Amino acid sequence: MSRVLITGANKGVGFQLTKQYSEAGDEVLACCRNPAGATALKALPGKITVLQLDVGKADSIAALKSKLGDSPIDILINNAGIVGPAPNRQSATDMDYDGWMETFNINTMAPMRMVQMFRGNLAKGTNARVATITSQMGALDLNWPVVYAYCASKAAVNKVMRMLSVDLAKDNIALRLLHPGHVKTDMGGPDAEITAEESAAGIIKVVAETNASNTGTFLKWNGQTHNW
Ligand SMILES: NC(=O)c1ccc[n+]([C@@H]2O[C@H](COP(=O)([O-])OP(=O)(O)OC[C@H]3O[C@@H](n4cnc5c(N)ncnc54)[C@H](OP(=O)(O)O)[C@@H]3O)[C@@H](O)[C@H]2O)c1
Repeated sequence: MSRVLITGANKGVGFQLTKQYSEAGDEVLACCRNPAGATALKALPGKITVLQLDVGKADSIAALKSKLGDSPIDILINNAGIVGPAPNRQSATDMDYDGWMETFNINTMAPMRMVQMFRGNLAKGTNARVATITSQMGALDLNWPVVYAYCASKAAVNKVMRMLSVDLAKDNIALRLLHPGHVKTDMGGPDAEITAEESAAGIIKVVAETNASNTGTFLKWNGQTHNW
């Protein structure tokens, strides 16, 4: 049994990850911004603790750390993410710069904050692993000029996490970047290619196969290598 901390657990891919880890008998620390409104999450059976966390706020991450203390964490999944400003407000012709900063805060800086805050907990974990959910939209070789802020935030988190993987190896913590697929969620929309159930099942398999020999790599939800 692993102890798994998941951000953005109230819906979408994060909810399915919580459900499937729990169904497999793992303990889940299911973090979300608004536990009071997380009705479906709180109704899930299993060893799930629903915890308040706004990943965009350093004091919220610190409050979570106070609650968890130095208890071991085996798997950290940085899943929470936002698209950022409306597509026409993050384009070549118009940019909501405050919105870009917030997108960077949630998609790029929050995963770093989470790892820094919970590194000690991971170091005490068994076979400790971090999975940061990024996107194909952050791949530099994808030359598709849409949602500039979102794409830039995911490209940046790829770089940050790749560097971090080298550092975390000193504590025997492995880290991978995962593109979850184009997923039917509020973010991906109803016409996306795969369901959140399929995405989560693939991610869980890839996380299970994450170790010191493949740390710092970028994969798709189905285990295929992703181009940087
Ligand atoms: N869906 C796709 O096709 C797709 C493709 C590529 C990558 N991704 C990535 O996959 C991850 C999951 O996306 P999804 O499709 O499941 O999206 P989603 O259904 O929109 O869910 C996003 C989750 O992130 C949470 N979140 C946003 N801001 C937060 C904050 N400040 N603090 C804590 N939680 C916050 C949301 O919580 P609230 O309900 O409180 O807003 C929600 O739980 C994201 O990192 C996304 O960028 C998705």
